Amino acid sequence: MCGIVAYVGSQQAYPILLNGLKRLEYRGYDSAGIAIMNGGLKTFKKKGKVAELEAFTENIDDHSTIGIGHTRWATHGAPDDINAHPHSSGNGRLVMVHNGIIENYDSLRRALERDGHVFKSETDTEVLVHLIEEIQTQDELPLEEAVRIALSRVVGAYAIVLMDAEDPDILVAARKASPLVIGVGEKEFFLASDATPLVEHTEKVIYLKDEEIAVVNRNGDMQIKTLNNQLQTPYIHKLDMKIEALEKEGYDFFMHKEIHQQPVTIADCMRGRLSLEEHYVRLGGVEEYEQRLTKANRFIIAACGTSWHAGLIGEYLFEELVRMPVEVEYASELRYRNPIITEEDVVIALSQSGETADTLAALELAKEKGALIYGIVNVVGSSISRLTDAGSYIHAGPEIGVASTKAFTGQVTLLTMMAISLGYKRGTISTSMFQRLVSEMSNIPAKVKKVLQFEDQIKYIAGEIKDRQHALYLGRGYNFPVALEGALKLKEISYIHAEGYPAAEMKHGPIALIDEEMPVIVIATNKSAYDKVVSNIQEVKARKGMVIAVVTEGDKVISKMADYTIEIPDTEEVLTPLLSVIPLQLLSYHIAVMRGCDVDQPRNLAKSVTVE
Ligand code: AGP
Repeated sequence: MCGIVAYVGSQQAYPILLNGLKRLEYRGYDSAGIAIMNGGLKTFKKKGKVAELEAFTENIDDHSTIGIGHTRWATHGAPDDINAHPHSSGNGRLVMVHNGIIENYDSLRRALERDGHVFKSETDTEVLVHLIEEIQTQDELPLEEAVRIALSRVVGAYAIVLMDAEDPDILVAARKASPLVIGVGEKEFFLASDATPLVEHTEKVIYLKDEEIAVVNRNGDMQIKTLNNQLQTPYIHKLDMKIEALEKEGYDFFMHKEIHQQPVTIADCMRGRLSLEEHYVRLGGVEEYEQRLTKANRFIIAACGTSWHAGLIGEYLFEELVRMPVEVEYASELRYRNPIITEEDVVIALSQSGETADTLAALELAKEKGALIYGIVNVVGSSISRLTDAGSYIHAGPEIGVASTKAFTGQVTLLTMMAISLGYKRGTISTSMFQRLVSEMSNIPAKVKKVLQFEDQIKYIAGEIKDRQHALYLGRGYNFPVALEGALKLKEISYIHAEGYPAAEMKHGPIALIDEEMPVIVIATNKSAYDKVVSNIQEVKARKGMVIAVVTEGDKVISKMADYTIEIPDTEEVLTPLLSVIPLQLLSYHIAVMRGCDVDQPRNLAKSVTVE
């Protein structure tokens, strides 16, 4: 949610900023802006995507070797040119980019207005840069000191970077609950909301911690202090990311590439953790906290959106294989519900980005209550991965399409390995069951590949339903969360209203919606309750609904009843979601493309939701 990029060194800043913004655009695309220093501060900002800014700045003097940039997902104020970042102080000496929300901005703004400050925008960001200016000028303080004092008066979340017209060699940056990474070069520094803009410049990165302020200087000096003025020794990480991972590599959309990467990303998630020959499932975090995990009272899974759907599958897995009570919570609800969480509980956080504000806040609460926090995260070094006691990365590589696909199957793969491992340790699954599941897991990448080969058929079905206004997704057991996920995918990228339901719940309400206009996508690969799903399909057909059924290869019964069927290979029931979700991802993708939607950057959304 909002992307920040900044540069100071000896290279031209403008192309670095522009490319960085393109890499970060998936974090927000309501407006974009940059500020550089060419005989004074020059700010350029434009409503819309980075391409609009690029066209707008085509002829600028790009000799500046320092600059800041921003791509915005609007919170305070409409997405227009004025509210776009960077924002300037009243005296024009400072410019700032910001990701996050200043919650007490209204009272700060009123106080500043009383002191004569005049604001141009409706943003909380402009209030913060005016506050910094006020402190800097009143007490004639160095910028870093003014930032430190200002931030101690602020309630909320921020990652900020500032430039000072009177000190053209430095950038000042700070963060709290919004990410900021510093790339370290030879007498140059690159700052960004995540590592994607840095990878082509350096592999040395520092993840700024909460309540730290950094001052980077083009002479190569860097100083990091806490808000309490304590000097910190930064730890330089080696970035493990390839530039190709950030390119479309021949696909029209990142989402399409990411759907097709799944045979590889699922295999990568299992690599070194699951061995068929030596019969083990080994997850570092599980080994380390085996006692706490196997003796836990219950697992609470906290997540949002697609990750929450993966969490629901986790509930089915842990209950069945580990015989452990599980609760799956929307992180946003868990946080504000005064939940009963004890030291015997384990809270598992699922998050692709590792930055989702609601999930982070829920974890902080659970941590205060003494629960063990286990993170299942994709982005290495992200805030959630650093907050947890233990955890596992899903190793799916950068997911750039806003609609999550490969991260979902990565999360489900990880949860499945965790459930098999814990079930075996707790003795709730037998050795033969353990071996069967481990063996079948290793077949999953090849089976996903097989499902992807049905793309043309799925595309044809997409063409048949692309103009419908609504869609209903039904599934039972492990396929119920898959139905929810299928509906979310369709909603978010094609703007067709879709709902997911447990198949048996249809008769308790949604059946009233069914007529010849309503496509019903039934995920009907179940071994258990198969006959019940067949009955649900008959109920839809009796009301003239169109049925698109995802079935197990060789299914003769449902194929005769459904209007369209998509076959997936047979597998263990607990592993079904890893296959049954693939046709739903492809269906949504092709519908969205046919409707002319911007698949990778759907309206109003952003990849990493760093505001509550
Ligand atoms: C998925 O397609 C979404 N765009 C969204 O629901 C996402 O899963 C949610 O915001 C959670 O994000 P996280 O996994 O990065 O925490």
